[in-house]
Amino acid sequence: MNIGIDKIGFYAPDQYIDMEKLAELRGVDPAKYTIGIGQEKMAVAPLHEDAVSMGANAALAILDDEDRAKIDLVLFGTESGVDHSKSGAVWVHHLAGIQKNARSFELKQACYGATAGLQMAMGHIALNPDSKALVIGADIAKYGLNTAGEPTQGAGAVAMVLSSNPRILTLDNDSAALTKNISDFWRPLYSDYAIVDGKYSNESYLSFLKDVWGVYKERTQRDLKDFEAVCFHLPYTKMAKKALLTLTAEASKEDAERLMSHYQNSIIYNKQLGNVYTGSLYLSLLSLLEQAPELKQESRIGLYSYGSGAVGEFFSGVVQPDYKNYVNKGKNEALLNTRRELTMDEYEELLEKALPKDGSNIEMNTEQIVEGKAYLAAIQDNLRKYAVK
Ligand code: HMG
Repeated sequence: MNIGIDKIGFYAPDQYIDMEKLAELRGVDPAKYTIGIGQEKMAVAPLHEDAVSMGANAALAILDDEDRAKIDLVLFGTESGVDHSKSGAVWVHHLAGIQKNARSFELKQACYGATAGLQMAMGHIALNPDSKALVIGADIAKYGLNTAGEPTQGAGAVAMVLSSNPRILTLDNDSAALTKNISDFWRPLYSDYAIVDGKYSNESYLSFLKDVWGVYKERTQRDLKDFEAVCFHLPYTKMAKKALLTLTAEASKEDAERLMSHYQNSIIYNKQLGNVYTGSLYLSLLSLLEQAPELKQESRIGLYSYGSGAVGEFFSGVVQPDYKNYVNKGKNEALLNTRRELTMDEYEELLEKALPKDGSNIEMNTEQIVEGKAYLAAIQDNLRKYAVK
């Protein structure tokens, strides 16, 4: 039985900053951010948007009533959870209108969370072929003002429906994974900002890739020639270029050129959002599917997931005939092109703003929210209240 991604969509907050303007403000050559890091715009979440509302909005963008009736598993990958006990999956289940007899829970392992969800959903569908699973990756990446990590922040969410006989990408049971207890990036419970050893995190990302790619090749007897494209976790788009060059160091010219040309298609959306942490790999996959010319039938796509701390995994899938009919290029481009640019003053004020942590109530200003969108409406008596406008 074929199992995989039947639907995929994303959500981005409706405001961003321009990376050249951020560079000017920090006294840095803009080319460092646009070429050295490889980012053009960075999504910035307003106070009424968090991982839950963004995850719900990504789901609302792709679900129909048949999905709502068939989904019996809701898996929410995030490292920006809003409660130590209640999972974001329960709120998303409610906001997205999914039938009541479902399992819903949250998964955390830095940027690997959504991949854990995807793999779990595969097992669930193998046992229950008529079921569908909703897998979400939603995060806000924050390192703080004037930090080395600042140009690699971002915000957004990806939602995927997994099913048997998927219309977009079948996933193979061919994963090679690696877990090692390292301290390259983490966020203590008391901190709004991630702590990172930037250079070590880059090295770890690449050394995990080498390890899992080696195991994958040995297990499957596949090589780069078998892949039309490879998508990577994208903390910033230059990282994947380094990753691809690591893989293609000994590849034929033809393979290296094909993979590099698809790399360009696979970074278009991520360049506009920044790091969305656990959704980043799947945003890159969506960018490839929507922005590349139609891929040949039976094209195999490699996927490399990396979550600091750290877990890495390499796996693959095969694009399905007519997959282009089931993605939403126009709608997704419009989502990116209708966002509002923040001034640097607005950005700096917003980045440092936080919801009350002392139990006091807050009511959100909802003027800016458009019809049909989920948002955090208030915190009252220590309870977060979400709504769909
Ligand atoms: P930095 O020290 O500010 O930057 O930190 P740099 O000096 O290394 O420069 C970056 C690149 O810009 C270099 O290119 C420079 O040469 C180039 P590279 O050598 O890397 O190819 N450059 C220029 N290019 C053109 N024109 C110029 C110019 N100047 C310099 N004028 C760093 C960069 C990414 C380390 C920092 O932003 C950071 O710490 N970010 C956060 C950590 C991160 O994203 N790590 C990625 C791997 S770990 C991961 O992916 C997991 C993660 O998503 C978390 C999770 O799992 O939840 C982060």
